[in-house]
This record gives sequence, C-alpha cells and structure tokens, in this order.
Amino acid sequence: MTDLWSPLKLATFTLPHRLAMAPMTRSRAKPDGTPGDLAAEYYGQRASLGLLISEGTQPSDDGQGYLATPGIYTDAHVAGWRNVADAVHASGGRLFIQLMHVGRRSHPDNTPHHRQPVAPSAIAAGEDMFTMTGMLPVPVPRALETDEVRQTIADFAHAARRAIEAGADGVEIHGANGYLVHQFLAPDANQRTDVYGGSMENRARFALDVARAVADAIGPEKTAIRLSPGVPTGGIAEGETNDDLYRHLAAELGKMNLAYLHILHVRSDAFLEEIRHAFGGPLVLNRPGRPRDQIGADVAAGRADIEALGSMALANPDLVQRLKIGAPLNEPNRAFFYAGGGAEGYTDYPVINAA
Ligand SMILES: Cc1cc2nc3c(=O)[nH]c(=O)nc-3n(C[C@H](O)[C@H](O)[C@H](O)COP(=O)(O)O)c2cc1C
Repeated sequence: MTDLWSPLKLATFTLPHRLAMAPMTRSRAKPDGTPGDLAAEYYGQRASLGLLISEGTQPSDDGQGYLATPGIYTDAHVAGWRNVADAVHASGGRLFIQLMHVGRRSHPDNTPHHRQPVAPSAIAAGEDMFTMTGMLPVPVPRALETDEVRQTIADFAHAARRAIEAGADGVEIHGANGYLVHQFLAPDANQRTDVYGGSMENRARFALDVARAVADAIGPEKTAIRLSPGVPTGGIAEGETNDDLYRHLAAELGKMNLAYLHILHVRSDAFLEEIRHAFGGPLVLNRPGRPRDQIGADVAAGRADIEALGSMALANPDLVQRLKIGAPLNEPNRAFFYAGGGAEGYTDYPVINAA
C-alpha cells in the first residue's frame, strides 16, 4: 500500500509526497496576458503542494477564450511566468504550466485580435460566456484548415519552449474539459473529413501530434497531458461512446515516455484502471469533489501515483500541513474564483500556525 506522504520520483525530480495542485483558471492576468506579481505570490504560497499545475494558459492569440487568462508566447509572458517559477522554486515546489487552447469555447470580445474562434468544425459550443459587457453566447467557430491545424500544433510547441525558458519544470497539454484538444477527440464537435477527423485514429491524431511536437521541443520528461474521458463540458456529450478512442490514445501516449498522464475522472474505476494500464507511465488523478477522508485512497489502492486537488488547494495555501495535522480547512470563496485583479479570494486565504 503506497503512502500518500511518501516521496515520488517523477521525470527529472523527486516530489516530497503524492499530492498535487490541479490546474485552476483565476482570470487575473494583465491585459496583455502577463501574469502579475500576485500570481507569483499565489503559486509561491502553495509550493508545499509539491507539483503545481498552473491555470490554463493560452499558447497563442487564438487560444484565449476567457477574460484575463495568461499566455505563454511573448517575451512579456515569459518574464511574468519567470517570477512565478522563481517563487515556486524558492519555496521548494515544481511548476508545470498548463497549455490551454480553448478552441470554440471563446468569445471575440475576450481575445487580443477579436477574431471568430477556431475549432475542428463549425459547430458552436452552445454556451454563454462572461465578457466585459456581460454574459454573451459563444459564436459558431470557424473550422481550421488542415495547414492551420499544423500551425496550431507548432504554436503548442512554441509555447512549451517559452514555458521552459520561463523556468517551468514542464508543461501539461490541456486535452480535457471540452477545449480544443477535446473538441478534436469528440465526434460531436469534430466532423472533419481530413486526417484529423472521422475515424477514432484520426480524431486522436491532433492530441498525439501536439504531444509529440511538445515532447520534441522540450523533452518527453517535461511533457504531460490532461484528459477527461466522458466529461460533458463545453457542449461535448461523448459519455461512454468514446472509450475506445481513449484506450487507443492512452496506449499511443504511453509510447512517448511522458512525465505523466493526468485524468479528470468521472467514469468507472475499471475504466480508469484500463487507461492506467494502457498508458503505463505515472498517472495523476483528479477526482472532482473528493471528500477529505478519501484523500490518499487512490494512491493507497494503486489506482494513481499522484492525486490532484483543485478547490481545496485554492482555499488552503498550507493544505499539506492542515491534512497532516488534521486541522480544519478554509472554504473556497466562489465569488472570487475568477474575479479580475485583486488579492481577495486569491492570496488572502489564511494559514494556520501549527507551532
Ligand atoms: C476556479 C477553477 C478554475 C479551473 N480552471 C481549470 C483550468 O484552467 N484547467 C483545467 O484543466 N481545469 C480547471 N478546473 C478544474 C479543476 O482542475 C478540477 O478538475 C476541478 O476543480 C475538480 O477538482 P476539485 O474537486 O478537487 O476542485 C478549474 C476548477 C476551478 C474550481
């Protein structure tokens, strides 16, 4: 039985325990997408979580969907993220920057170039999104041309290089939650007729090409990917119908010797074990809404190498210490999950003094 508090060698470093911070968008970047000083403070405060997976970060102008999310493709972005990486490292943590291209889950008002969003196919996500003028429906996206798909893959690789230049320990490709990579995987969002659509192999091709391009750019040991089989967000309704694709994808990703596969898990544990087996490398597991008394259960049962926690980590900078001594937890303040700019509900969660 593996103990949650035992160290784990992952890629090129050793983590002090088997918890991690799940990626969480906080919408507090500067207007040009540069993370500010508060971001460095926020991540630095949480460094005892060991592996910190950053908020979704766009690899290009097209990749942005929400207001005030950070980017990692300009010199200013690199400088901002360097402050974050330095703060995390100074407190003994590791930082993977999550590369999030939102695809069709975008509104032109929220992007630097104000263009129509791009996606595998011209099919709307069917949702509303917060903009400076309130909630607006996301428009029908434009289908990427095949050469634009290749350019988008190159954008991921470029962003990955810039993340490493900023001092990140690696990147996590966001292949979950209805964003661009997931849109390519899902038959209801991908109705392409080129090599990126149609068969299961073709729909998995974009994810695999992105993973390969990123691994070639920065090394497979610094490359990770997050998937969410069956998660119905952003207009995707794959349910269990895409299970064979995920089995295939996990097996192909497994051949790349990546740092880890991160699963946002809502399906059966039997399916999770199939995916873990097919991938064969380190598995990070996020079980949404995991109760406190279940923390460590998947590591103990051998279903995961690392358990990633989201909102508990958001609200408790000293979560590891609190769990170890059985202290009460702060409640996350949802009103400030994404609120622009300020420290409130961001860097002002109190820590306990166990001394
Ligand atoms: C405020 C907030 C922002 C989130 N942003 C992201 C994101 O940028 N990328 C991502 O993959 N998941 C994102 N998630 C999902 C979390 O990573 C996680 O899957 C979810 O919160 C469930 O885990 P939990 O119950 O431990 O919080 C977000 C969740 C929250 C609460």
